[in-house]
Amino acid sequence: MASRLTFLFLASLALGCQKEFHSNPRHAHFKALTKRQNDWPPALTETETLLSNSFDANSIDDWAEYYGSQVKLAGLGKEAAEWTRDKWSSNGFTSSLNEYQVYLSYPKHQSLSVTYANGTSSPINVQEPALAEDEVTGRPDSIPTFHGYSASGNVSAEYVYVGRGTQADFDRLVALGVDLKGKIALVKYGSIFRGLKVKNAQDHDMIGAIIFTDPGDDGNVTVANGYEHYPSGPARHPDAVQKGSVLFLSTYPGDPTTPGYPSVEGAPRADTSKVTPKIPSLPISYSAALPLLQALDGHGKTAAEVNRTAWKGALDAEYRTGPAPGVKLSLSNLMEGKITPIWNVIGYINGTNPDETLVIGNHRDTWMIGGTGDPNSGSAILIELSKAFGKLLAGGWKPRRNIVLASWDAEEYGLVGSTEWVEEHVNWLTETAVAYLNIDVAVSGPRPSLDATPELHTIATELMKKVVHPNFGGFNISLYDAWVKSSGGEVGVLGSGSDFTSFLHSGISALDVGSGGGTGDPVWHYHSNYDSYNWMAKFGDPGFHVHATMGKFLSLLAYHLADDEILPFDLPQYTKELKGYLEDLSELIGSEDVDTAELKSAIDVFETRAKEVKALEDQAKLSGDEELVKVVNHKYRDFQRGFISQGGLPNREFYRHVVTAPGLDTGYAAITFPGVSEGVQYGNLTIAQEWVSKTAKGILRAAEILKT
Ligand SMILES: *[C@@H]1O[C@H](CO)[C@@H](O)[C@H](O)[C@H]1NC(C)=O
Ligand SMILES: *[C@@H]1O[C@H](CO)[C@@H](O)[C@H](O)[C@H]1NC(C)=O
Ligand SMILES: *[C@@H]1O[C@H](CO)[C@@H](O)[C@H](O)[C@H]1NC(C)=O
Ligand SMILES: *[C@@H]1O[C@H](CO)[C@@H](O)[C@H](O)[C@H]1NC(C)=O
Ligand SMILES: *[C@@H]1O[C@H](CO)[C@@H](O)[C@H](O)[C@H]1NC(C)=O
Ligand SMILES: *[C@@H]1O[C@H](CO)[C@@H](O)[C@H](O)[C@H]1NC(C)=O
Ligand SMILES: *[C@@H]1O[C@H](CO)[C@@H](O)[C@H](O)[C@H]1NC(C)=O
Ligand SMILES: [Zn+2]
Repeated sequence: MASRLTFLFLASLALGCQKEFHSNPRHAHFKALTKRQNDWPPALTETETLLSNSFDANSIDDWAEYYGSQVKLAGLGKEAAEWTRDKWSSNGFTSSLNEYQVYLSYPKHQSLSVTYANGTSSPINVQEPALAEDEVTGRPDSIPTFHGYSASGNVSAEYVYVGRGTQADFDRLVALGVDLKGKIALVKYGSIFRGLKVKNAQDHDMIGAIIFTDPGDDGNVTVANGYEHYPSGPARHPDAVQKGSVLFLSTYPGDPTTPGYPSVEGAPRADTSKVTPKIPSLPISYSAALPLLQALDGHGKTAAEVNRTAWKGALDAEYRTGPAPGVKLSLSNLMEGKITPIWNVIGYINGTNPDETLVIGNHRDTWMIGGTGDPNSGSAILIELSKAFGKLLAGGWKPRRNIVLASWDAEEYGLVGSTEWVEEHVNWLTETAVAYLNIDVAVSGPRPSLDATPELHTIATELMKKVVHPNFGGFNISLYDAWVKSSGGEVGVLGSGSDFTSFLHSGISALDVGSGGGTGDPVWHYHSNYDSYNWMAKFGDPGFHVHATMGKFLSLLAYHLADDEILPFDLPQYTKELKGYLEDLSELIGSEDVDTAELKSAIDVFETRAKEVKALEDQAKLSGDEELVKVVNHKYRDFQRGFISQGGLPNREFYRHVVTAPGLDTGYAAITFPGVSEGVQYGNLTIAQEWVSKTAKGILRAAEILKT
């Protein structure tokens, strides 16, 4: 397998909020940008200085405190939506609420108990305790732990530990003859989207799933290693639970009752059974998981026999498969599904050129009252960004392009608010959108990371050189240098897991930026009540300086994409990436019988067109000819539309980009040339060969749009 199919379990540089591990593909042939920048301190233009200086860490702290004290569970967060609208409006963006009627599910009753072989039963705690030091964790309006879109049901059965619950884990258990049918899956979080863990269990005739957090994924900062846990120290609280959606994200994001069309009043509703689980599931903490794992000690296959990477976690148990005869779980999960309103906030400034639009967004909904990393850090930054642009507007500035600001609702359930909005406005977006910039978990630690479509790599990395990352490892360095140190200098490939997904799969240039923790940093409580304002202020980003840093970067990027005379796109960079993906694909194919010649020649044509359009850009810049400028801008705006395949990828028509998609069994991480790669992975070479051709045609369509 190519290296891009392996995961980095320990580097928890979370980007999108659906992600807990930074599992971006590093393609084998990538050359990292490792040179330290030499122009230091950076020189900024007058406008860049104004935008940058407008970011105030103290104000961001205030916005973070506001968002960190509101109930914002999808469909319950109208007040925070109205507050956001009013802030953006007062800063100069014309803003309003945008409502959809979507299918969501809410928790009614959740409980779990274990019965041992001797007949003793004991309840397993499924809730997170209130902490005296952190007021929001004890509020009466706190939301209990649950899985969004999980199936209701009461089940009782012996259980089996299934590792991360990937398809490969299940294949291994089947090969070893482990009895899965009719049992409950005990699954470790990590590596793939949680909904796919439940799907894989369901596909193996299991009747329920319990997904637990394991401190083995926290690196060295653990209680077992002598660190104190939150709220007194940087380690994970033993009772922290990761909530989250169990939608089958790699098949279809968005409201599962309205695939492909917006959830407006009166919209017809489809059956959800293809994209939501039929078996109940619950999330639990590591302290709750410990006795369940220990009860399997001595039963079933050993971790060594299973022989899968990271099978064994850090808890004091053998991590054997079980089942243990007579040891049973009783899982009760009662959910209430309903069609209910959600509220995106949409703000805009009209550009002088109505044909070109930049969209900048983050989601606002959370599983808990806090959510200060996910996504309040992004929400707070967008308020500050609207303020910075408001200062430009006050000085009489008008952007060339329309700027749309979006605060999405129901992202957590499965990118619902953004997907419905894109579905409603897809024609206008296809006509005018130049790019979508996403920020979600803007800050959960100090280490920046960046995923983007290739034509945005150059502008994004160049602008990182213009931002100071204060006190990174004790020094003031550029955001760029901090990013190179954190990520190795590789811009990741967009998979899924946040609101860029619907834009990307409509053929729109996209970028996702954030900053997370890594080795030695305080452990962030992803999707837990302990992702709170108090945690952020004490451990995640004391002083909110990293927030300001990320906000400055986003505003510079937005400014250049909205106002540069010629869109700052680098098309030759797209060619380079395509060539790298092709090399990866060749490795994946190995000696299998798939001929990629058609793909290779399409990339050659793309290379020629990319060079030509670059030359045309140079000519437009030199001449200043308005018509020529417009021609180049429109080619840049439109070329990605060519990558969109009518009919979509095999068995998942929503995902239409022929160059990148989330892996079918990853949900978060990208797979490049997905039609071909998954044909090979799943052993269907007919599909693989057919998709060589479909992918090549997509690349040729994009090349044709660039043709001068
Ligand atoms: C039954 O087994 C459990 C788990 O080993 C143990 O904790 C409990 O004390 C036992 N109860 C009795 C009555 O022996
Ligand atoms: C499921 O279990 C819960 C609590 O154990 C109980 O209140 C509920 O009535 C049960 N539901 C069904 C359908 O058996
Ligand atoms: C944990 O600490 C040890 C010893 O200090 C170090 O060698 C190792 O790299 C650390 N591992 C991680 C994942 O931080
Ligand atoms: C475990 O798996 C690795 C590679 O997947 C293989 O090289 C090794 O021989 C296996 N070990 C055992 C004991 O089966
Ligand atoms: C912005 O442009 C749209 C479309 O041309 C128009 O309908 C709208 O009234 C304009 N809004 C403002 C505030 O100028
Ligand atoms: C970093 O810059 C800030 C202000 O820009 C300054 O207060 C601080 O002393 C600097 N820190 C270091 C380590 O140079
Ligand atoms: C491969 O996919 C095609 C198209 O879906 C299907 O007709 C064929 O049966 C598949 N072949 C195998 C071996 O699964
Ligand atoms: Zn998020």
